[in-house]
Amino acid sequence: MFGRISQERWHAAQALEESEWNHQGIVEAEWHEIVNKYQKVFAELEHSLGLTQDTMILDVGCGPTIITRLFKQGRRYAFDPLLYNLHQAQTIAQDNTNLMTARGEEMPFAKSCFDVAVCRNVLDHTQYPAQVLAEMHRTVKPNGKFFISLYTYAPFVTFVKKIGERISFLRNVAHPFTFTPDEFKVMIGQSGIQVEREWLIHEGVHSTDYGKIPPPLPDRSVRNRLIIWLNANVFRSKWFVREYAFLASAK
Ligand SMILES: C[S@@+](CC[C@H](N)C(=O)[O-])C[C@H]1O[C@@H](n2cnc3c(N)ncnc32)[C@H](O)[C@@H]1O
Repeated sequence: MFGRISQERWHAAQALEESEWNHQGIVEAEWHEIVNKYQKVFAELEHSLGLTQDTMILDVGCGPTIITRLFKQGRRYAFDPLLYNLHQAQTIAQDNTNLMTARGEEMPFAKSCFDVAVCRNVLDHTQYPAQVLAEMHRTVKPNGKFFISLYTYAPFVTFVKKIGERISFLRNVAHPFTFTPDEFKVMIGQSGIQVEREWLIHEGVHSTDYGKIPPPLPDRSVRNRLIIWLNANVFRSKWFVREYAFLASAK
């Protein structure tokens, strides 16, 4: 139901992702956004999940930000297909996380080795989201937990974005998939993971969301003016996009 895309389409998304990450200041802006949005939730999770120094934590599609750094305890493993292409790799490698270059569809870990898997803002970037969830299920212990978050869109916006995916000039190249909050939940349920709790992390595009709200552009072409207008008047609207996070466990 949620599909998979071709290797070619996925590589196009990843090429754009890589160039976005390599813009000056993006990693810092993203980290700042993550701290703003998730610090409290992670502090609460750290407590409620009873994390210890030995808790095995997996960060799926960690990018250069590695959101699991927000946990003060635990043994962190993090991977991303782009990791060693990123200029920031040197900096993040110093952060005491076991880093790997890998894809979520085929994780380089044995069955049941993690207590907690975290996957933030990744599934709509992958080639086969349901397979990534299946791999998370495989690698997390039967009594382990999953913290999965994603930008989701209102049904009408999702419909338009799905149509846009089929029309090259309308395509959101970095995001091959678009989900409504309900579709996101159904997809999680179909992977054998049961949602226990949910958070509405943010509504509307966050002011530091990269690539979406550029500071005044030197090029005041009609196209750029339109992008700025859409960013300010449409994408920032609460109804347009919602970032949801779910805490789940294996059924
Ligand atoms: C928007 S970034 C989010 C990074 C990080 N989780 C965060 O919240 O800042 C999406 C990430 O998903 C990664 N990604 C894309 N396809 C993937 C796949 N098949 N498996 C794992 N990660 C993937 C990308 O390389 C990219 O770093």
